[in-house]
Amino acid sequence: MRIQMQTGIPGLDPILCGGLPVGTSVILEGEPGTGKTTFGMQFLVEGIRKYDEPGVYVTFEELPEQIYSDMSGFGWNLKKMEQEGKLRVLCMDPEIFLEEMQRTGGIFEQIVAQIECRRLVVDSISLFRLLGHNGNVRSQIYQIRNIVRKMSLTALLIREYGEREKDGISFENYLCDGIIRLSLKPLMDRYRKRTVEVLKMRGTPIREGEHIYKFLDSGIHIVPALSMAEDVMIVNEQNNDLTTGIPQLDELLQGGLPKGSVFMLDTNSKANYKYLIAAMLSECIKREDGLLIMMSGLSTIESLSQTLSIYNVSLKESLHKKEAYFLEHFDRFLDSEHKAAVVALSDLNNQDFREGLHDRIRSVIGEDKLQNKRWLVYCDLNTMISQRGIDFVKANFAQEMSYCRSVGITVVAHCNFTEIGSESASYLERSCNGVIRTWVDGSYQFLQVTKSPSGRMTAPHIIENTREKPFIRLI
Ligand SMILES: Nc1ncnc2c1ncn2[C@@H]1O[C@H](COP(=O)(O)OP(=O)(O)OP(=O)(O)O)[C@@H](O)[C@H]1O
Ligand SMILES: [Mg+2]
Repeated sequence: MRIQMQTGIPGLDPILCGGLPVGTSVILEGEPGTGKTTFGMQFLVEGIRKYDEPGVYVTFEELPEQIYSDMSGFGWNLKKMEQEGKLRVLCMDPEIFLEEMQRTGGIFEQIVAQIECRRLVVDSISLFRLLGHNGNVRSQIYQIRNIVRKMSLTALLIREYGEREKDGISFENYLCDGIIRLSLKPLMDRYRKRTVEVLKMRGTPIREGEHIYKFLDSGIHIVPALSMAEDVMIVNEQNNDLTTGIPQLDELLQGGLPKGSVFMLDTNSKANYKYLIAAMLSECIKREDGLLIMMSGLSTIESLSQTLSIYNVSLKESLHKKEAYFLEHFDRFLDSEHKAAVVALSDLNNQDFREGLHDRIRSVIGEDKLQNKRWLVYCDLNTMISQRGIDFVKANFAQEMSYCRSVGITVVAHCNFTEIGSESASYLERSCNGVIRTWVDGSYQFLQVTKSPSGRMTAPHIIENTREKPFIRLI
C-alpha cells in the first residue's frame, strides 16, 4: 500500500478516497480557463498551510508577478510563502527546466533540497510538444515521472485539453499515474457548471463521475457528487433498524429500515423485485416479528411459501405460530388451514374498506398481539390501485401511513411509479420516508435509494445474481 498525501483542496480528498499516492505524477487537464492554474497553485498552498509540505511551481508561460497578482484574489500571499521558504515559483524555459531537472546537483535538485519540497506543479507540459517530435516528448515526460518518483515528490502536470486531444488518447495518459480533468459544461438550460472528474489514479480507489466545483473567495471548492442535505440522525442507542436481508442495501440505508418508517419500492414491470421483497420478508420471519402481507392477484400463500423456503424460513410455521397474516383482496379458494391467518377484504366496497379495515385486522390478529409485537407490513400498491382505484389510494395512503408511523409499524409498499404517472407518484412519494427504485436499463437491473429518512440519495447500483442467499448482490 502506498502512502497517500491529502491534497487539502476542499472536496478532492473524499473523491480520491484519501488523497494522491505519494510519488505519483498526475496530469491535470482542462480547456482554457477551466481553472488549471488555480487548482495547481491551490494544491501547493493547501499543502503549505495545512500540512507544512513545501512546494515548487514551475511555469513556462507566465511571469511570477502575474501569478502572484492573479492568485492574490483568493487571499493567497504567495510572496510571503516564498519568503518563508515554503514555496518557489519558477518561470523557466521548458528546455532548461528539463535539463536542470535531470542534472544531478542541478538547480531543481538544489531547490527541492533547500525548501524540503514535497509537491510539484508544472504549468504546462503542453509546451513540450512544441519543442520536438513526439518520441522526444515521451521520454521527457517519462523522465519527469521517474524523477518525481525517485525524489518522493507528488506532482500535478498541467496540460491543455482541447479539440485535438479529444480525437485520440495521447501517450502521456499511459505514462502518468493519474488524470484529473476539469471541464465546463451546460447546467439546466441557462447555466454552466464546472466539473472535476478523476479519470485514472493508480494506487487508490476513486469516486467516479463528475463532481461540481466552484470558485469561492478562498479558492476552488469541490462538492462531491451525491452530497445531499442530510439530516443529522439521532443516534439510536438500541439499534431499531430492521435489516433488509441484503447487506449492501442495509449499507445504502445506513443500517436498514428504521422501525416505524415507510419505504416505497418503485419497480418497473421488467425489473425483478421478488428477491428484494423475499429477503426482507424472510428476515422478518427470522426475527419472529409480526408480518402482515397484502397479497397480489398473482401470488398465493403457497407460492410465497415456496419462495421463502429457499431462504430457509417456513412461512407456514409462522402462520401456525400466529406471526404471519395476509390481507386478501380477492375472492378465491383458501386452504382451510390458512383461513385463520387471512383478513378477507374482497366483500368491502371502498367506503366500508376505509371505515372497516382496522376492525377487520384487529378481529383476525387480536389487539394484544398488534400492540405487543414489532410489525412489518408489506403492501402491494399495484393491486390496491387496480382493485380500489388510484384516487382512493391517493386519498387514503398518506393517512394510513401516518397511522403506521405513529404506532411504530414499519411498512414496505411496492408500486410502479411510471405507470401511475408522475403526479400520483410524487403524491405517494411524499408520504414515504424512503424510496428504493429498481429498474431495467439495457441488459442490467439497477437499484438506487432515491430518498431516505436521512435525506441521503445513493448512486445507482447494479443488481447481480448470486448463488448464495440472498441471491442478489449490489455492485
Ligand atoms: N473568483 C472567481 N470566481 C469565478 N471565476 C473565477 C474566479 N477566479 C477565477 N475564475 C475563473 O477562472 C478562470 C481562470 O482560472 P485559471 O487561470 O486557473 O484557469 P486555467 O485553466 O489555468 O486557464 P488557462 O487555460 O488560460 O491557463 C478565469 O477564466 C475565470 O473565469
Ligand atoms: Mg493557466
